[in-house]
Amino acid sequence: MLHTFLTHRLGLRYPIIGAPMAGVAGGRLARAIGQAGGLGCIGIGSTTSLAFIESETAIARGADEGRFGLGLMAWALEERPELLDAAVAAGPVLISISFGSIAPYVEKVRSAGILLAAQAQTIAGAREAEAAGVDLLVAQGTEAGGHSSSAGIGTLVLLEGVLASARIPVVAAGGIATPAGLAAVLAAGAEGGWVGTAFLSAAESALNAEARRRVLGAAETDTVLTDVFDRVQELGWPSHHPGRALRNRFAEEWHGRSQAIVGNRGIIDAYRQARDAGDYDTAVIYAGQAAGLVREERSAGEIVRELGDGAEELLRRRVDELTKV
Ligand SMILES: Cc1cc2nc3c(=O)[nH]c(=O)nc-3n(C[C@H](O)[C@H](O)[C@H](O)COP(=O)(O)O)c2cc1C
Repeated sequence: MLHTFLTHRLGLRYPIIGAPMAGVAGGRLARAIGQAGGLGCIGIGSTTSLAFIESETAIARGADEGRFGLGLMAWALEERPELLDAAVAAGPVLISISFGSIAPYVEKVRSAGILLAAQAQTIAGAREAEAAGVDLLVAQGTEAGGHSSSAGIGTLVLLEGVLASARIPVVAAGGIATPAGLAAVLAAGAEGGWVGTAFLSAAESALNAEARRRVLGAAETDTVLTDVFDRVQELGWPSHHPGRALRNRFAEEWHGRSQAIVGNRGIIDAYRQARDAGDYDTAVIYAGQAAGLVREERSAGEIVRELGDGAEELLRRRVDELTKV
């Protein structure tokens, strides 16, 4: 068994957190990850309804009080603080708040006995989150799927820097999709892996069949970090928090000139229609560079066990090999 701050504090079999992924990680995925011994998080977006939080957390909890986490965006809470009230009321063991100022929300989460995590994309950002009073830092490298930062710092450099300066536990996010990735961050000193893209192929994710097929077919070179999908969907994401998505025709056309989309009703309406029709040459599929490592559809439980058991075995074997005289 691997023992870390995460496994002890949250009672997990494996030091693996299924990342919150708005629109993709709902109650079903969170429950499956939890049942396999990790902690599954439900992603809450800026437009998520309160009813969704209630119904998806009920699925994650199940009849046996299963553990789950919830992930929110700080910038969205400025407009909709009620999302955090609903999240706390749903009884998660972990809440993550990322992408903006976390300080206003620390007291509410921690006083409810919920572990508060924050994703940081720079060493300075991690210091800020620690100073604000979070319990757990998530060092999120630029390889990560979904939103991160225009700073573009890779997971390894970020993790090394954050581990050197943090006085609180740290987990790593961005590019962890095989036992080798999890073993690497644990060996470096992380308390666990925060895994998103690897679960896109899970049968329990909310991704539809065509989007899943595209993830499975993607190489590590097939993503782009861009704000075009935020601008065309008129979401309030700050432009210094772009998202990593599979490159498609729409991104090829607009990346680097997203301001031209703002207020352009023709493009915005056409995008909506394409999205509703499931046309992924236009509509976004958020995924990280690790999409290139995801080759087959499996259950979330299989992914968790393979990552966890595989990392443990790899760590033992490497220590043996490296210390043999
Ligand atoms: C489809 C998708 C949606 C995401 N949505 C969110 C989200 O709603 N909230 C959040 O904090 N992070 C979100 N992320 C980022 C993840 O929390 C995490 O940092 C990332 O998936 C880790 O890197 P990986 O994708 O290489 O495993 C998302 C990632 C993906 C792939």
